[in-house]
Amino acid sequence: MEIQIQKLRQAAEDAIKSATTNLKELDDVRVKFLGKKGELTTLLRGMSQLTAEDRPRIGKIVNEARTQIEKLIAEKNAELKEKELQNKIASEKIDVTLPGRKIHRGHLHPLTLTLNRVKDIFIQMGYTVEEGPEVETDYYNFEALNLPKDHPARDTQDSFYITEEILLRTQTSPVQARTMEGHEPNTPIRMIAPGRVYRRDDYDASHSPMFTQVEGLVIDKGISFADLKGTLELFLKQMFGSSAKIRLRPSFFPFTEPSTEVDVSCVMCHGEGCKVCKGSGWLEILGAGMVHPQVLEMSGYDPSKVSGFAFGLGVERIAMLSYGIDDLRLFYDNDVRFLNQFN
Ligand code: PHE
Repeated sequence: MEIQIQKLRQAAEDAIKSATTNLKELDDVRVKFLGKKGELTTLLRGMSQLTAEDRPRIGKIVNEARTQIEKLIAEKNAELKEKELQNKIASEKIDVTLPGRKIHRGHLHPLTLTLNRVKDIFIQMGYTVEEGPEVETDYYNFEALNLPKDHPARDTQDSFYITEEILLRTQTSPVQARTMEGHEPNTPIRMIAPGRVYRRDDYDASHSPMFTQVEGLVIDKGISFADLKGTLELFLKQMFGSSAKIRLRPSFFPFTEPSTEVDVSCVMCHGEGCKVCKGSGWLEILGAGMVHPQVLEMSGYDPSKVSGFAFGLGVERIAMLSYGIDDLRLFYDNDVRFLNQFN
């Protein structure tokens, strides 16, 4: 019987050792040896047949075997539990070390970039930056600029009317009158006024019913046409490079006298003649002139005491020339493939 117990004990130890997959397997081992119908229990029952003197000795061995098997099962049980826990943790693990998603930052629109450059140049020359409303009155958009109701020059600037007296401004020039009115009469002014303007116009590669202008106005004692020319030359050289040349052609605006159209030597071919300048070597870039005495007077300034010049330029045109863009509509289409090139 001793040998039987010994064998059983060995068999149980081996079974426990090889129960490596899960707790169920270990429990089967426990039932097989220690359960009610288990092998060790059966063995114990057979003890009644032993002699009285053998019984305590064998009983001791059986109990030792039982304790030993229980101990091994408990150890194995703990081991398997820990293993299962580790497996569970591993399967539920979230890898927090993944790189974060890139946040796409926006950037400025090419028209804003161009406008900022124009602003910087004039701010360096001591200009203030003024603003006026896009929904403007007929008075400021036309009358205060020497364009009475029946003036034929109004035809070139047809607009979107809200009422007969209120319209979307066709130019930034109304800010001239508004700025003068906001000043003590005859005090110096040196300002630019950027903003959107609206005209009844086709929508094609070089026209748009909405575009951007920058107005300029300088008023002081003794301001002359030479000041106008010098200022614009300096501006255009800073904008397009020091080799840029400037050319003035006589023109007409009801609010300036004399008036001029200002050309800059072609930024593509430097005056040689190319497709962009249509072979002429020159690009029309802005309108300007000496502020008409009547305009000064209407806004409370005295033309016998002060004089001034004004100019108006198109931001889209300057942006197209400086970036080599051949279609105005690209600025408004909001196609990111175009816009991202200015990042
Ligand atoms: N306002 C004129 C235009 O839109 C430009 C201009 C401004 C001309 C100031 C002279 C002086 O065409």
